[in-house]
Amino acid sequence: MIGIYLSGTGNTKHCVEKLIGLLDKTAAALPLEAADVTRQIKNNDTVIFGYPTQFSNAPHMVRDFIKRNSFLWENKKILCVATMGAFSGDGAGCTARLFKKYGATILGGVHIKMPDSVCDSKLLKKSIEQNREIIRQADKKIERIAEQIKHGKYPKDGITWIAHMAGFLGQRLWFYKKTAGYTDKLKISADCTGCGLCASLCPMKNIYVKNGKADAGGRCTMCYRCISRCPQKVITLLGDEVVEQCRYEKYC
Ligand SMILES: Cc1cc2nc3c(=O)[nH]c(=O)nc-3n(C[C@H](O)[C@H](O)[C@H](O)COP(=O)(O)O)c2cc1C
Ligand code: SF4
Ligand code: SF4
Repeated sequence: MIGIYLSGTGNTKHCVEKLIGLLDKTAAALPLEAADVTRQIKNNDTVIFGYPTQFSNAPHMVRDFIKRNSFLWENKKILCVATMGAFSGDGAGCTARLFKKYGATILGGVHIKMPDSVCDSKLLKKSIEQNREIIRQADKKIERIAEQIKHGKYPKDGITWIAHMAGFLGQRLWFYKKTAGYTDKLKISADCTGCGLCASLCPMKNIYVKNGKADAGGRCTMCYRCISRCPQKVITLLGDEVVEQCRYEKYC
């Protein structure tokens, strides 16, 4: 068994690591951008695959990875884990359908509510205590799920036909374009000091530092990792001002 995740602000990393730790203490959990990720997947028949929901879809980097490596999924047993700030009809179903198309068996789907990660939007922002409580509830859910799985019962969050309709009608129909490709809309203001932290963190290697300033290319997957960590708070994407640098470790 192996855990694979994309995580911008740490929520999904925490959830996949906790779930896999409860199921198999010897199993590893790796980020999607790890150098040997495909080899590790090849060597394991069961995969716990996690990512943050974006507009009731999986981030483009996640869908791109699944499609580019379509040969990896034949006969794999996969549990899809989608974390979210509020709502995702079929966050887990979005990748489950793709994996199935490439020959995988879907063990189930898990939706876990976590703190919001959109640092440059006031929408869904909570107090530190409220976010702590959200994480406490998430941890309880993960513990419950791990016990069920040990008894051979897998949760079906987001992989039913009704969930598919809820994700499609509730969000994808209106926001599909947001996740249809990578974006070139990342903004870095002139106050950047060129420290290079964002460039070193980006899972897409989409940021580079030139002449003492950071600049971004057109392959951002909207994970918000750079935005949540820039010491100067000078990076934005969907909004124009950093409201809060959301990060799992601030709330745990
Ligand atoms: C671009 C973007 C879009 C998002 N869209 C949704 C959404 O449609 N529904 C939702 O509940 N949460 C949404 N979120 C919140 C994240 O899914 C949630 O905070 C997630 O746990 C972040 O995980 P991470 O820290 O592993 O990146 C969105 C976050 C981002 C950055
Ligand atoms: S982390 Fe912020 S200050 Fe540092 S290079 Fe990136 S944008 Fe500039
Ligand atoms: S540029 Fe920033 S938000 Fe975009 S993929 Fe890289 S780290 Fe994530």
